[in-house]
Parts: sequence; structure tokens; C-alpha cells
Amino acid sequence: MKAYKIGVLPGDGTGPEVVNEGLKVLEAAASKFDFKYELSHYDFGGDRYLKTGETLSDSAIEEFKQLDAIFLGAIGHPNVKPGILEQGILLKARFALDQYINLRPVKLYPGVDTPLKDKGPDDIDFVVVRENTEGLYTGCGGFLKKDTPDEVAIQTSINTRKGVERCVRYAFEVCKTRNKTKNLTLCGKTNVLTFAFDLWERAFNEVGKEYPMITTDYAHVDATCMWMVKNPEWFDVIVTDNMFGDIITDLGAMIQGGMGIAAGGNINPEGVSMFEPIGGSAPKYTGQNIINPLAAIAALQLLLEILGERKAADSIEQAIMYVTGEKLESLAAGKMGYSTSEVGDLVAERLSK
Ligand code: IPM
Ligand code: MN
Repeated sequence: MKAYKIGVLPGDGTGPEVVNEGLKVLEAAASKFDFKYELSHYDFGGDRYLKTGETLSDSAIEEFKQLDAIFLGAIGHPNVKPGILEQGILLKARFALDQYINLRPVKLYPGVDTPLKDKGPDDIDFVVVRENTEGLYTGCGGFLKKDTPDEVAIQTSINTRKGVERCVRYAFEVCKTRNKTKNLTLCGKTNVLTFAFDLWERAFNEVGKEYPMITTDYAHVDATCMWMVKNPEWFDVIVTDNMFGDIITDLGAMIQGGMGIAAGGNINPEGVSMFEPIGGSAPKYTGQNIINPLAAIAALQLLLEILGERKAADSIEQAIMYVTGEKLESLAAGKMGYSTSEVGDLVAERLSK
């Protein structure tokens, strides 16, 4: 029987509540699909930072390297200056574990409202593959003459051939395994960012030669935003850099029904990956048992899929679709018609059937 070591980092706000529901579903999946797991809990987050000044310790990173996957709840605390926890925990883990892919499925489930008029589940089903360790996120830059009238701030986008190529290749692989149009779109800005996206375009075209079964096209990032709203059905897989990926995946989250459902993976295909609901810590809903746990459950689904537990992942997705289609009144916190833990129960029970 396969056995997995899973790190659990519930984090701040409603993170622990939604992670609990994810773990409930994990337990149900393990007994149904015959795998074992062992959990290691970590209490990194805002409260620990406020007490100890520590965000994510180097020794924890070393421990993470021994795990098979990490399940993250939410990072963000009302009493901690924005940026500290994001950089100290989330970005630190992404970089230290070289999680060079950010994988964001954008799929509208049955019964879920999308703000896009006349679009339904048949129209909204694509995946964004975002580069996750380079671009504008490396912290490369600095100030000159700070706090003077002559101040200069520079923030450089780093695009290495190796980093771009491995990201693009991963996107082709994702596209190959999907049952859609087998089309990969490169999203960039070749008309203005003539160095960075020149490299991207060349890497994309060259790697594309290895995948004759996949058609390719290109869209500028601004046009991509327009098409995601007007014709989301055009997309199968989109690959893009870190910053553009950050922006278009939030647009994607909204068209698939919002923070209650959107999940993502920070993936190192050769190493340890980390999965998270993308909603944030929602401090105002903390402790009320009203937050929607489906995004965390979807993150757990993605975790199992990447670990290779395909059947378990598919069944969890089916169970989520049953719950959105047949049970929930809304995905919004407090309006689901069920509590947080009841939604977790619904998914777990459906899975166990
Ligand atoms: C995301 C988040 C992070 C990012 C923040 C919290 C640093 O927005 O995962 O998309 O910008 O990557
Ligand atoms: Mn983001």
C-alpha cells in the first residue's frame, strides 16, 4: 500500500477550518482508495510570527524536503503588515522548494454562478500554467537615492532560458493529458516586452516541435483578459510568466465562481509540491464555521492528483460537483445553506458511497 508523508500548514484566519475539511476528505479517500498517509503539522502563520518573529524557519524547509506534499490553508493576518507573511512563508517555500509551476485549473462546476452572462460549465474549463519562481518575483532590483526627489526604483523581470523552458514543457505535458482541444496558448506581451517574451516565444516554439499532437497559439496578456471574459471556451491550457499568471488566475478564479472554489498547486514536478485554496485567510469569518471549504477540498484533490492518486482525485472532483450541483445554495460564506463542517461531511459522505 502506498504511504504518503503530508505536511499540513493551516496558517491564519479561516485556514485551519477549511484545512480540517480537506483532511476529512483525505481520510475518506484513503480508506476508499487504499493508500496510507502520515501528517506533520506546522503552525507557521501570523500568530506565530507575532509571538516569535519567525515566519518560516530554515529547519522547517529542510523537513519539508522529506515530505511528499504540503497542504496549506491560508496566509494573512490583520495585525501583520502586508507582505511579511506572504514573502516569509508562501514565497519562501515556493523558492526554497523550487516549485516552479503554479497550476491553476479554472473550471466552472454545475450549480455554480459565474458572472459571465450566457456561459456555463461547458464553456469554462481550462488550466493556467504560471511560471512560479522567476519573472518579477525574484526580488531583483533596488532603490537609488531613496526618499529624495531623485529617487529611482528598479524591479527587474528575470527570465532564464532554463526556467522558461521547463515551465513551457510542463504546460505541453499538461495539455497532452487533457481531454479538450489539445491547444496551448502562450500569454505574453511580445509587442512591448521585446526581450523577455522573445525568449518565451522562442522557447515555446522550440519545445512545441516535440509535441506535434498539440496546436499552439499566442495572445497578449491584455487580449487574454478580454477573451477569458468574452470567449473562455477558446482556452484549453494557457502558459505564462509569474506576474501575468498572478493576474489572470485571479480573473480565472472569479469566472469559475470565486474564492469559495478556486484552488492551486505550487509544483515542483521533481520535488515537493504545495497545494492551497487561493481565497486567503478571511479574518472576518474566522471561527464561525461559515466559510466555504470547497476550495481547500479542491486543493486536496489537486494534491492527490499530482501524487498520482488519479482515481481518488477524480472521485473527489465528482463529489465536489455533486455538492455544488445538488446541495449548496451559494458558494459564499454564510450563504451555502450548510456550515463549513457540513459541507466537508457532504463531500466525504458522497466519496465514501
Ligand atoms: C498567489 C498570491 C501570491 C502571489 C501573493 C500572496 C504573494 O497572490 O498565490 O497568487 O502573488 O503569487
Ligand atoms: Mn495571486
